[in-house]
This record gives sequence, C-alpha cells and structure tokens, in this order.
Amino acid sequence: AANISAESQEEYRKIISTLPKETAWTPMQPLCLYQGFWFFPIFLEGAMYIQDHFQAQSTDVLLCSSVKTGTVWLKALCFSIATRTQFNNYTSPLQTTFTHQCIPFLDYGEYAASQGPRFPLLATHMPYTCLPKSVIDSGCKIVYLCRDPKDNFVSLWHFLRKVTRNSFKELKEGDLISVEEAFELFCKGISFYGPYWEHVLGYWNASLEHPERILFLKYEDMMKETAPYAKKIAEFLGCPFSSEEERGGRIQEIIEFCSFENLSNLEVNKAGLHQKKDKLIENSAYFRKGKVGDWRNYLTTEMGERLDNIMEQKLSGSGLIF
Ligand code: A3P
Repeated sequence: AANISAESQEEYRKIISTLPKETAWTPMQPLCLYQGFWFFPIFLEGAMYIQDHFQAQSTDVLLCSSVKTGTVWLKALCFSIATRTQFNNYTSPLQTTFTHQCIPFLDYGEYAASQGPRFPLLATHMPYTCLPKSVIDSGCKIVYLCRDPKDNFVSLWHFLRKVTRNSFKELKEGDLISVEEAFELFCKGISFYGPYWEHVLGYWNASLEHPERILFLKYEDMMKETAPYAKKIAEFLGCPFSSEEERGGRIQEIIEFCSFENLSNLEVNKAGLHQKKDKLIENSAYFRKGKVGDWRNYLTTEMGERLDNIMEQKLSGSGLIF
C-alpha cells in the first residue's frame, strides 16, 4: 500500500481550496464539488491520488457503492465468499476485525502503485466516471451496490449527525442539521458522493454496456432473498458454490454470518473503534437498523414522493427503477 506523499497532498489541497463548497451538512468538513460530485476533502485527496497513481490489475475486483447503501454488508458477503476455503464462520477475520478493515479502501490513497500479487478485493465510493483510467483499461471486475434513495438519505443523515456529534461533543441536538434541511440538499444532489442518482446511473449504464465486467446489485432485492445474489456474487468472483457446498448449507451459513443481526452483535462491531484518517470512529456507527423502509419514520409521504419523482425523472429512459 502506498500513502499520499506530502508533495502530492499539498498539490491536491491547493486544487481543493478552489472548489465550490457546501458547509451545511456538518461542521467537520465542507463538501467540495469535483468532477460533478460532492466529496469530503479527506476522501477527495485520496481519490485524486488514486486517479493519478492507481494501477488496477485485471484480477482486481472493485466493490463500489455510494455511502450508506450497505457497503459493510457487501464487503462482508464478498469477503466471506471469496475466502471460504481458507476460513469458516468461526475463524473468519470478520469475527475480530471491523469489516471495512478487511478490504483496502482506495479512497484513502491506499494501494496506489502496488505491483505484485494482492488480495483481489478492493473497495471505493468513487463514482464510475471518476474511477482511475487503469480500472477501465485493465478490465477488472466491479460489484456495485445501491439502495432506495429514501432509505439511503435517512441512513446518511443519521450517520453524519452521529459522527459530527462524536467529533464535537459541545454541539447540541439543535446545532445539528435537521432532516428537512438535509433533505433539501439531498434533493438538489448535494450530498456525500452525490448527486445520488448520478452515482447510481454511472454504474448502471456501465453495467449495461459491460455486463460481464460489472455486477449491479440492489440492497432491497438482496434483503428480500439473499441466496440467489450470494450465488451470483460467487459466480461473478470466479468461485461458484459447488453442489456439495449448496447441499451442505454453506451459502446459508455465509448469509447468516453476514446478516445485520450477527455482524452488529459481534464484540468488535459493538465496542470497537477504527481510525479514519485523523478520527477515531465507533464501528457501531455502521450498524443502525438494517431495514428496508425505515424512511417512513423520518420523512413525510410527500417528501418520499418528491424524492421518488426526482429519481424517476433523473433515471427516465435508463431502464432502472427503484
Ligand atoms: P441503516 O442506517 O438504514 O440502518 P454502509 O455500510 O454503506 O455504511 O451502509 C450502512 C447501512 O447498512 C445502515 O443502514 C446499516 O444499518 C446497514 N447495514 C449494516 N450492516 C448490514 C448488514 N449486515 N445487512 C444489512 N444492512 C446492514
């Protein structure tokens, strides 16, 4: 893994300082508009570095998602499927290590120029059109996960409030962004890695063009029935479940291990902390409810319809519906 050099960092910071900014979501950092998407500077520095230096290998598999779409779940499933001959549920590193730490996250500027053999799974929140050129040129595989925009919004709103509150203990409830204010921004496309519809559309269109290279998944479909998707993922990763594994219940075992109930109750995820650049974040912040339709507890029907209409309009003609 390579880290961003001080020189590159200074150069990126100079560029970032000139970008359009939006400060309303959180006092931690402003969102910055870069190549059509809103980034927090700590991730944008990494993204810029990766764009300049990342050498994708044809054997890499990139797990891509916008934030709060179920990234932890996708990572846990893919990791468990890909390593199932090495580990069982009891010996899995996921038992003791936070899921995000089991798979390198490109947006920190990790793995930029590493050559040699490496674990095939890597992760990023970067939009498709912002991916390093080598990802497209190498023909490496991509698994993309998206989620209903209303649940995605609610999850994001909770998460950013939680992280903000933990960073600024003196802030009171009323100092944090309200659901209405955040919703207005989200509907304008101003959100972490937003516009959300552009993030989804980029990968959707690419998956239509290169179905053999890009597997496009939806959180709600996978929640309804996970097994067909676990099988799909295994085939896509080039390690399909054998009929003995299927008969022996291996797929179900993995699904149960990766379920919200199981993962959120592991000690490491209940009480552990992980370092995110200069911040310590509670692993538990990544496990809230893990339910479909929780938006109804926070948004009015009218707000829900408004966001649905925006999505419908933005995705019209693409063949993708939520
Ligand atoms: P909620 O806030 O709606 O509960 P990400 O992993 O991209 O940060 O997404 C976080 C969302 O995924 C949160 O949604 C979280 O609760 C949910 N989640 C975490 N682990 C999950 C799992 N194993 N299965 C399903 N959902 C999960």
